Amino acid sequence: MKILVFGSYNIDKVYTMPRLPKTGEDIYCTNYEVHVGGKGLNQALALARAGADVSVAGKVGSDGNYLTDYLKENGIDVSDIDFSGDYTGHTIIQVDPDGQNQMILFGGANQQITEDYCDRILDKHRDADLILTEYETSCVEYILKKAHEYGIRTAINPSPFVEKCKTLPFDCIDCLILNEYEGRSITGKYEYKDVIRALHELIEGEVILTLGSEGAMYFNGKEIYSSPAYKVNAVDTTGAGDTFTGYCLFSLLKGESPEIALKTGCAASAIEVTKPGAAETIPYKEEVADFLKNNQ
Ligand code: RIB
Repeated sequence: MKILVFGSYNIDKVYTMPRLPKTGEDIYCTNYEVHVGGKGLNQALALARAGADVSVAGKVGSDGNYLTDYLKENGIDVSDIDFSGDYTGHTIIQVDPDGQNQMILFGGANQQITEDYCDRILDKHRDADLILTEYETSCVEYILKKAHEYGIRTAINPSPFVEKCKTLPFDCIDCLILNEYEGRSITGKYEYKDVIRALHELIEGEVILTLGSEGAMYFNGKEIYSSPAYKVNAVDTTGAGDTFTGYCLFSLLKGESPEIALKTGCAASAIEVTKPGAAETIPYKEEVADFLKNNQ
């Protein structure tokens, strides 16, 4: 099963904060670390650690080797990454003592993806079983339309939410995976069941709604399935959604039931939030299997 992640690659600059600053306030952080990140990178890693055969596409700058080397070490095919971006994308992430975060995103090379590059990549990957995108790159709509035209199954995590997410080419999306804030913003509905039903009316495929500490929901037009979140001591929630996305999607692709896919995604993200960082703390499938066994 071949998956192409057409996504973003960021250098994450992570500041541990005694609390998040108020407007106009200057405060010292208590720790600073640099990590690999970006939703594309994190989601590709989660898929690969779940056991998928993953290739990545996207754009970085000349210093992007830091990111591609990490992906390569994790068995991901990085040969299509374009290194001609002006600057590699980066994110400034502040994490508070409850593990909650605030991010400033600098798109950099992620926003320099062109239609010509998309054409080249999609022509090469016409045999992919799935293309996964998010909303941190340019050309997202073009990628979805072209992949759909080629008959490739598409999945998108429309994150971070921007107004343009309301006008995505929904008829070209087979699987929508998003959090409650994104779902509510796109549909204008509030109750989770209303949100997931309204999203399903837009795409008519599979919709997966993540609900933070309340777990996740799945709807494909028949029955709504849900899974509670596992109770853990969250240290850093950065990357939790990406971890869920990779594990849940791969489980569905393997033909597992929505209940199992939701549980697997929730278990993987529960493990991920117990350690500081994003990409590096995405668990391997053995850890997820053990966690599921011990938390039935
Ligand atoms: O979802 C987490 C990711 O969002 C971080 O790694 C950061 O780079 C931003 O893209």
